[in-house]
Amino acid sequence: MSDKNLFDLLACASRQSLKSHRPKACVQPAGALDALALETAKCTRCPLRRGASTVVFGQGDPGADLMFIGEGPGAEEDAQGLPFVGAAGQLLNRILDAAGISREEVFIANIVKCRPPENRVPLKDEVDACFPWLQEQLRLIAPKIVVCLGSLATQVLVDPKAKISRVRGNWFEHNGIRIMPTYHPAALLRDSSRKRPVWEDIQQVRDVYRKIRPKE
Ligand code: URA
Ligand code: URA
Repeated sequence: MSDKNLFDLLACASRQSLKSHRPKACVQPAGALDALALETAKCTRCPLRRGASTVVFGQGDPGADLMFIGEGPGAEEDAQGLPFVGAAGQLLNRILDAAGISREEVFIANIVKCRPPENRVPLKDEVDACFPWLQEQLRLIAPKIVVCLGSLATQVLVDPKAKISRVRGNWFEHNGIRIMPTYHPAALLRDSSRKRPVWEDIQQVRDVYRKIRPKE
């Protein structure tokens, strides 16, 4: 997967953001993301689609400066067609709330858009098949900050060998996009000792984010 990491896709995203300093809405109409969602909904590039009830494209502001990327839809996400709406999502909501960030102002997506059977970790072939959709989302949304939620997003977007416990809390920066890996909210539900590091990571994210986009 080393040829398909954030280095490549950030090159696209930064071209977008370098275009001008006009508000993003002028550069990139929301309609382009809607069109991408419709295209994604028809995807049959990997077997995951057959076991899923729907393609979970993602949710949020098409002009978001802050984007959260998880692993893949679970049962509740598959049922509702929305990312992070189950138990992990409710925890993510509480974390965002505590940081004074609303779900509406960010964009939330996953590495794979279809639920893997029994919520297993997506296979490399599935990740590779789905990756162009995420790449296109990143190009169109052109966030300034990406938060990788958990191991998979971190390995796909930062470094295939990254160990989440080692890299979390550290900023990575490529072509002007800042990337912060942190533990997946589902991991916090299993191990409450991870709450503190995640809260520290999110506070770092909030501080940088609020310099880019002050609270309205
Ligand atoms: N876990 C994820 O990685 N993504 C979701 O959307 C929900 C749970
Ligand atoms: N630890 C995490 O925090 N998230 C994962 O996805 C795996 C391990």
